[in-house]
Amino acid sequence: MQLVKDMRRIIKNYNLLNHNTFGIEVFTDFFFAFTDIVELKAFLKNDLYEHLEKRVLGGGSNVLFIDNFHGAVIHPICNRIEVKKKDTETILIKADAGLNWDTFVEQCINNEWFGLENLSGIPGSVGASPIQNIGAYGVEVKDFIYKVEGVNLETHEIDYFYKDNCKFGYRTSIFKQELKDKYVITAVFFKLKRKENLQISYAMVQEELKKYPQQNAANLRKAILDIRAQKLPKIEEMPNAGSFFKNPVISEEKFQQLKISYQDLPSYPELDHKVKIPAGWLIEKCGLKGYQNGNTAVHDKQALVLINKGSATGADILRLADKIAEKVKTDFGIELEKEVNVFP
Ligand code: EPU
Repeated sequence: MQLVKDMRRIIKNYNLLNHNTFGIEVFTDFFFAFTDIVELKAFLKNDLYEHLEKRVLGGGSNVLFIDNFHGAVIHPICNRIEVKKKDTETILIKADAGLNWDTFVEQCINNEWFGLENLSGIPGSVGASPIQNIGAYGVEVKDFIYKVEGVNLETHEIDYFYKDNCKFGYRTSIFKQELKDKYVITAVFFKLKRKENLQISYAMVQEELKKYPQQNAANLRKAILDIRAQKLPKIEEMPNAGSFFKNPVISEEKFQQLKISYQDLPSYPELDHKVKIPAGWLIEKCGLKGYQNGNTAVHDKQALVLINKGSATGADILRLADKIAEKVKTDFGIELEKEVNVFP
């Protein structure tokens, strides 16, 4: 699927089909792509568009479209990378919001700026990465974020959010909570390492990396891409939005109860006597891995991924998601929370 990148105009009645990895067709009344803050501010201040409801759309890889949008979609296509500061240990990089995330990760490794290797292969844009604090294989993007630059949709001012003010958590941040739809993230500042320090705590990653002659960042990236290719469906072949649900966090007590019936229940310890358990495992245990219904399906290699098999609508995917959540609730007494954002 070719996602539209190079477009600066304001377009009326715009089809968002190529702006979401679920491959769902909806229309927005206005679509505006900006290459820098000056363009963005000019758009926000323009009398013609000032009154409109506004939403930001990055790579569209974590969104489920369910209806047309009667407002303006703002799409960052700014794509500069700038070195702001460096010392012997670290380097501070400013990366524009419109950069493709994985291209950015690749460039960092090529430039010997280290830390983001485990986040290789994640679809989406740099600007979206802090919103849900993307994470994979023992690394979260918050581990390397220094600050986030954004333009306030009401005041049109540029504000900076230092890491400690971003309220980062598991697949969440201030931008998904109280500041939801209030800012256009325009750039992210990353503090990266100048020396390799591979994060290979996951057994699966260690195993895959053994296949390479050297344990270095470039090979770690390859290993991660290989692991992802084994489990996760290609967007071009099976449109999807990665994990559809978050892994639920339950009480230690509830976990111990479940463990009596399910000795093989995998778990990851959390703070405050809580335990995180994989939603993919729960869905598989419910017998829904590989389940198909019309134009929708649960991926047969990773049950956390829902697929548009053809011309599914957002409502079709939501129906499948509801069915899954209901079954997990009935069988395990656990509520699943969506990871993807429903739009509008
Ligand atoms: N599992 C099953 N059946 C399944 C899927 C998973 O039993 O169908 C079990 C696995 O055997 C394993 C456990 O669940 O014991 C965890 O599976 P996996 O390593 O595939 O990771 P996950 O918890 O399902 C999370 C992230 C992914 C990230 C991987 C790797 C969430 C919601 N998802 O998935 O992120 O790539 O870990 O670190 O936290 C995303 O956010 O879109 C995403 C793909």
